[in-house]
Amino acid sequence: MRETLISVENLSLNFPNHQVLSDLSFDVQRGEFLGIIGENGVGKTTLIRVILNQLKPSSGRIRIKDGLRIGYVPQFRNVDVEYPLSIEDFISLNFTGIKLPWLSRKEKQKIQTVIKQVNLEHISKRPLGLASGGEKQKAYLAQALINDPDLLILDESTASLDPNTKRELLDVVLRLNKELGLTIIFVSHDMQVIHEYPDHFLWLTKDGYTSGPISELHNDSKEGEYV
Ligand SMILES: Nc1ncnc2c1ncn2[C@@H]1O[C@H](COP(=O)(O)OP(=O)(O)OP(=O)(O)O)[C@@H](O)[C@H]1O
Ligand SMILES: [Mg+2]
Repeated sequence: MRETLISVENLSLNFPNHQVLSDLSFDVQRGEFLGIIGENGVGKTTLIRVILNQLKPSSGRIRIKDGLRIGYVPQFRNVDVEYPLSIEDFISLNFTGIKLPWLSRKEKQKIQTVIKQVNLEHISKRPLGLASGGEKQKAYLAQALINDPDLLILDESTASLDPNTKRELLDVVLRLNKELGLTIIFVSHDMQVIHEYPDHFLWLTKDGYTSGPISELHNDSKEGEYV
């Protein structure tokens, strides 16, 4: 049965000097893997911020299913080599609810579960600052999973990764989608990857947008990086 998690109707958003999103309509069903693509500055992150309720549309509307839990992996993170927390402790920072000075047994188990889901068991005690780019992305993903989200949003989270590491991360995301039914919104510049993983697409352009099942995404756009 179809269950609409997000419904966007005729949504536009203007910043003081320019319009970013214009008359956008689409919806996201539970279990969907949506790929959002478009060139730099077209409004992908802005749209994500609207979904996260950090920005209000200028016109039109967005409806989010009541009580929807969203896990979010942002586009940029500030973690340098000095960052002292272990991967495990970093992941636990995201626990919501009552904060005790220690972790409950249930929370500890949950941390181990998500660490396993992203394949970081072997280095979970290592300081996050010393992890590689791909390992960091997995740790951010694990952190976003800690509160059992219904929807996982990844904003360009594979942009700086080499092709193998990118696939490894996307395989983890695809498994979460297929096996746990987690709904995914994945923002990327990489047309190849958008053709391969998501089942639906939303392609934002300067003049408008196209959207639909991935089979309707033009094949001539398959070549190389789309920037
Ligand atoms: N708070 C803001 N105030 C004014 N302009 C903004 C604001 N946030 C974003 N913009 C502008 O809106 C446009 C869209 O930004 P956005 O970050 O959504 O692009 P994007 O599609 O995510 O790009 P990228 O691929 O580079 O991440 C850009 O021109 C940006 O400079
Ligand atoms: Mg962006």
